[in-house]
Amino acid sequence: MRKWSGHGGQAGIRDHCAMGSTLSTDRVQAVLARLRRTGEGEDEPAKLRVRDREAELGDKVYGAERAALGAQAPLSITPAAGKLLYALTIAVQPSLIVEFGTSLGYSTIHFASALQDLGSGSIITTELLADKARLAARNVADAGLSGCVEIRHGNALGTLADLDTDVDLLFLDGSNDLYISVLELVEPRLTARALIVADMSHQEPHHARYREYVNDPSRGYLTTEIPIDAGIVVSTQDPASARDRVSPASGQARSSGASGATAH
Ligand SMILES: C[S@@+](CC[C@H](N)C(=O)[O-])C[C@H]1O[C@@H](n2cnc3c(N)ncnc32)[C@H](O)[C@@H]1O
Repeated sequence: MRKWSGHGGQAGIRDHCAMGSTLSTDRVQAVLARLRRTGEGEDEPAKLRVRDREAELGDKVYGAERAALGAQAPLSITPAAGKLLYALTIAVQPSLIVEFGTSLGYSTIHFASALQDLGSGSIITTELLADKARLAARNVADAGLSGCVEIRHGNALGTLADLDTDVDLLFLDGSNDLYISVLELVEPRLTARALIVADMSHQEPHHARYREYVNDPSRGYLTTEIPIDAGIVVSTQDPASARDRVSPASGQARSSGASGATAH
């Protein structure tokens, strides 16, 4: 994956700030506006299809069936949530972001804009539906941000199983029933300073379980919730727990040193 060059010292940072952020450029804003317009037309009908199917079954629908009911609706985070993702990325300065749930790339474009402004880092994002992955690639390219984005088509439990690089920021916004599974899958790769950010839905039992998971002291996370939309749960590792946590891959305690590296 591409590594971006640095800012070139304080003078470089001043030049960069004078130019404004990537997120506010006409090119990026045009793609985000297009995606919002698509969402205005397609999100409600998609949610209605899910509600009708759940009423018919008398049960919740997840996985491939729910994704198919979503069809090509963006189902994106809101602009306020997007700005939060941008700001968190700027603060964390991640080498690698992993995103569960690309859809058409709205959130991905916020992450990639921040990486562009930082001058380094990349994002791996994964989407179950081939058509959505293809459209996301086009949207990211239209925003001029393809250089730091890798889109993996398929089930996140497979596409993220072979991560061989440490992860500094994990964003959970895919199938509601898989947040804990994806977190557990990526956990061995999280750096000691990693942020885990999860987009919540109203009245979603799996998200209630996710909140319990990251708030359970034995899991070793410090967690808070930002009241944007249905809630955005932000967790980091308790430094003491990160020091003591044992990597399942190696049986060795994971580092919490300044390098942020993990032992595997
Ligand atoms: C809420 S949307 C993501 C919105 C996106 N993060 C944004 O803000 O633009 C959830 C997406 O996750 C995808 N998805 C569902 N299950 C998945 C899985 N097991 N692996 C990868 N993607 C999945 C769905 O097809 C859908 O496009």
